[in-house]
Amino acid sequence: MNSLNSSVTWQALTAKSAEFKTPDFSLKALFAESERYARFSVAQEGLLLDYSKNLLDAEARTLLIRLAEERQLKQAIQAMFAGEIINKTEQRPAHHVALRLPEEQQINGEVSATLRKMSALVEKIHTSDWTGHTGRQIETVINIGIGGSDLGPAMVVEALRSECLPNLTVQFVSNVDPIHMQQILERSNPETTLFVVASKSFTTAETIANANNARRWLLNSGCATDHLNQHFVAVSSNVASALAFGIAEENIYPMWDWVGGRYSLWSAIGLPIALAIGMDKFRQLLAGAHSMDQHFATAEFSDNMPVLMGLLSVWYRGFFDTDSFAVVPYSQSLDKLPDFLQQLSMESLGKRVTRDGEPLPVNSGAVIWGTPGTNGQHSYFQLLHQGTSVIPVDFIAVANSNADDAAEQHEQLLANCLAQSLALMEGRENSAEPHRSSPGSRPSNTLILKALSPSALGSLLALFEHQVFVQSVIWDINAFDQWGVELGKTLATEMLQALADEAERADLDASSQGLIAQLKRWQGTA
Ligand code: F6P
Repeated sequence: MNSLNSSVTWQALTAKSAEFKTPDFSLKALFAESERYARFSVAQEGLLLDYSKNLLDAEARTLLIRLAEERQLKQAIQAMFAGEIINKTEQRPAHHVALRLPEEQQINGEVSATLRKMSALVEKIHTSDWTGHTGRQIETVINIGIGGSDLGPAMVVEALRSECLPNLTVQFVSNVDPIHMQQILERSNPETTLFVVASKSFTTAETIANANNARRWLLNSGCATDHLNQHFVAVSSNVASALAFGIAEENIYPMWDWVGGRYSLWSAIGLPIALAIGMDKFRQLLAGAHSMDQHFATAEFSDNMPVLMGLLSVWYRGFFDTDSFAVVPYSQSLDKLPDFLQQLSMESLGKRVTRDGEPLPVNSGAVIWGTPGTNGQHSYFQLLHQGTSVIPVDFIAVANSNADDAAEQHEQLLANCLAQSLALMEGRENSAEPHRSSPGSRPSNTLILKALSPSALGSLLALFEHQVFVQSVIWDINAFDQWGVELGKTLATEMLQALADEAERADLDASSQGLIAQLKRWQGTA
């Protein structure tokens, strides 16, 4: 493949982008075209994307789509959906779309069998057919996992809290900081708690430490070793290690190497979701994602939501030097969405070489961050409106609230969402008092969900997954590996040893030696 930035299309995009950077450019002026909203918005079932408030016109969009075609995006989508080995550094497919195929189209018997096995557990827990070691029904599920084995399920359970079944609380522990587990255990009863140890590899240090902590808690509370199985299930592709930990074979739910951690909430990693909302609604989540998959695989690029959103990110990152993107859900229920998107995007796109190992000639992944509106308006929005950096925003709003009897207040929430994108787009000139001037022409997307239902949430999450994939194809990087995190893991093991060593470690760098010595002095162990 040609070097990306030497292509004629890239050069044309560079020239085109200059039009949006001139001092007299006005995003507001683009709305003189009466059809702008109709031409720059796209709907897909219960989801609508308005991308009209972007630094984009029809010509720029055509050029971006041409770039996608030249980068063989169509073929790349087909390869992903066909389950080809697209994660070359690990020699695996990235076939998460297969997890959400409808039952009758399922091509992989293991997926259907796993869903049935999950369903059986959910049924047993919900009907108290599965009890703790003293015969009491399970009232608390604690998921122990980190990264992809935590963020997706935790975010979905929070988002769908109004759909959660009563009498069962689902909690999440991820951090190796023991206070995290302690805080959750303080609110839990060992007789009525089920732990889900979620780790694709079953080697992640944080998860193993927390699982050991949970086992100690149960044993200290009087649970006999041979009853521990009533309090533990695992989700892992490393069955041998899960067995060695002491989890019964029938309580191990499979994971597959063709599902990446950050793309895994649709697999048995979604068990806490299924336990929280029930299996029918978990299947609705899968169905919503499948509907977005079909849209992504079949819609023309000019009407294709993930393609358009992916190309917009490439546009800003490549031609406007945008360093970060904000995601601001106007929904408290989507509080954890930015955290989930951070891993999805930054672990997938934080790469500096192409799939052939060549240095990337252009910017790749950027920082993703955000918190729910309206809270963000009272902290960082000042910088979005008047700061020197231009940070594109994804606004997310939900037309119908899940809150009871709060229609009026919900309208206030929606009004704020609409007002912020409008203020960023239009700005307001005040030459007499420059500190009051907002420059405007600051870009944003607005996504609207009809309701925060399992199905709409599934579509929204699949949309973001595919948006990330689109960017990776344009940049020719592997979105499905994460070698950068390995070095930190290796060094953490070395540092743990250095903290345990009585003798000073003269072999270490001066900073590590100094920090370790200070820690030991303050711990009284020097
Ligand atoms: O942070 C690195 C990572 O490998 C993520 O990609 C993954 O989601 C997380 O660790 C947890 O991994 P595991 O499920 O194997 O414990």
